[in-house]
Amino acid sequence: MLVVGNWKMNTNRGSAEALVSAIAAGLDSEIRCGVVVCVPYVFLGQTQQQLTGSRIQLGAQNVSEYDSGAYTGEVSAAMLREFGCDLVLVGHSERRQLFHETDGQVVQKAIAAQSQNLLPVVCVGETLEQRESGQTDEVITGQVEAILSADVDLNRVVWAYEPVWAIGTGRTATPEQAQAVHALIRGLIAQRDSELAQKTEILYGGSVNAENAATLFEQPDINGGLIGGASLNAESFLTICRSAG
Ligand code: PGA
Repeated sequence: MLVVGNWKMNTNRGSAEALVSAIAAGLDSEIRCGVVVCVPYVFLGQTQQQLTGSRIQLGAQNVSEYDSGAYTGEVSAAMLREFGCDLVLVGHSERRQLFHETDGQVVQKAIAAQSQNLLPVVCVGETLEQRESGQTDEVITGQVEAILSADVDLNRVVWAYEPVWAIGTGRTATPEQAQAVHALIRGLIAQRDSELAQKTEILYGGSVNAENAATLFEQPDINGGLIGGASLNAESFLTICRSAG
């Protein structure tokens, strides 16, 4: 099980430091899952220092698809690696929707991440309109197949299903709704490699909180969570980690 906190564009230098300290201090032996914090780029350096010797892993929220060069404002996978990142989110729905990232870019970002030994957390999810018009399976299949059919090492990918309508809305997918899509994703991977499908981690994200995490994590195809809002509070985040076992 893996629990990843996605801080998005929140915190400042001081509150980021305090949040990392509180999470690190609260990690006890009851929490056996992998724990990751994806902090804003500018706080990676200080967080890397804070996490020295900790089992909490560091992640970034985005990465450039390019290695280096004239790409003003972008941050490369090598830079993230130098700042101690282990993971990076790619294709978060906010990137897809607000910054118009395409499946093609998501693939290139996953490849760029892997080239620097960063684990890409590939996010997929349908909008409310797509769900209501019965297109969920088709949309998810398209997003997943883009990665499966590309030159990405599937042994080094974590997936996150995040229905867009559940992100930051307080409206979580029911455990059954989430499980159905997770099973779909695992099935698509199994079509390529059934052994790999069994060991692939598929996280659920979208309004996960301290109250609903446990029932989501009980689902057979849910292997952890990608947590936005609730990851900004150490106590809630730790409770979610504890629910993951
Ligand atoms: P949320 O965000 O938990 O605030 O809904 C999840 C995410 O976008 O990763």
